[in-house]
Amino acid sequence: MESSQALYLRTVKDIVDTQVYKIENPEGPLTEHDKEKIGEFGLIIKRGGLVAFPTETVYGLGGDALNASSSEKIYAAKGRPSDNPLIVHICDMKDLERITEDIPEDAVKLAERFWPGPLTMILRASSAVPRRTTGGLDTVAVRMPDNPSALELIRAAGGYIAAPSANLSGKPSPTTAVYVLEDMNGRIDAVIDGGENDIGIESTIIDLAGDKIQVLRPGYITNKMLSDVLGIRVETDPALLDPGCSKRPKAPGMRYRHYAPKGEVIPVRGTPEKVYEHICQGLENARKSGLRSGVICSADNASRYEADIVRHAGSLDDAEAAAHVFYTALRDMDDEGAEIIYVENFTDLGFGEALWNRLLKSAGSKWEEA
Ligand code: TXA
Ligand code: MG
Repeated sequence: MESSQALYLRTVKDIVDTQVYKIENPEGPLTEHDKEKIGEFGLIIKRGGLVAFPTETVYGLGGDALNASSSEKIYAAKGRPSDNPLIVHICDMKDLERITEDIPEDAVKLAERFWPGPLTMILRASSAVPRRTTGGLDTVAVRMPDNPSALELIRAAGGYIAAPSANLSGKPSPTTAVYVLEDMNGRIDAVIDGGENDIGIESTIIDLAGDKIQVLRPGYITNKMLSDVLGIRVETDPALLDPGCSKRPKAPGMRYRHYAPKGEVIPVRGTPEKVYEHICQGLENARKSGLRSGVICSADNASRYEADIVRHAGSLDDAEAAAHVFYTALRDMDDEGAEIIYVENFTDLGFGEALWNRLLKSAGSKWEEA
């Protein structure tokens, strides 16, 4: 039988707060003190612990990618289905060899152009990668993030960090350390606070291991940018573009409802004026039904909507600005108790495809046409 002392210690450990280290100047190079602290956090990962860290996209929840029990801990901390594989983060191109069966020419071209950066490549996995990390698949997702703390942590942890976004499964990805703690406090050992992420939505995923090179998750690196480097026309997994069709998305993570606040999200598509009118009508109906309403819209329209909560991004053709605040806006809607949330479309730029994709996920794959 467990002694009451052991039980007490375990309970205390369960509620002890996650350690937080704040990078001294997130805009500048790492200081000696930063490096020292990140070195300690790297050891936590080496010993099988979990550390969340900033990247240029969203915060990651890191564990040793080559240790099956670390991957198991990641799934447990997130409450994530274990068939949804993790991305392995590396800090040096030469480390790719150990975890892959072969490195296609195209992977080298893409890495030269986009790494470190927001591109994840699916490659054939070597036996060094536990199948707990790959969700049972014989392929592995790899990326080299463009963030000094992330690269330093990967180095300190031995070169391979498995890291999904550091949110509870189904919730919006965290873009600040505060959001990480909101979901993960007490569930992980430490967090590196590196301020707000630059991009604000997750990396583009390209499949280089399948029959056909295709994008499995759109992101900041657009199909056009990929096509230009590879000299072929790269397209998006058709199952993502037509959520009603019977084909299943190839990336397991794209099959689940995701990024979702508690309220109902309603993306609205159409010309800007039609979208505006449609949302006004929806807000009117919400008011009549006594629902607390929210709108996420362009800066230009923010003062025109009569909703309980309004959050705005940049102008309607600026998907980058919108992506930067998108997940924050969704989390705000939760904090403010929004029950129905209308979102204008920000699809005009190439990068807008990524935003529309996340929006559809947060809405459970439905939208309204204005
Ligand atoms: O920007 C990002 O990619 C962030 C930061 C932390 O790096 N990470 C991230 O990880 O978004 P996560 O776990 O939230 O999303 C990983 C996605 C999931 O949709 C998963 O199904 C897919 O990558 N994935 C991972 N390995 C795969 C594989 N071998 N084949 C197909 N899809 C894979
Ligand atoms: Mg995620």
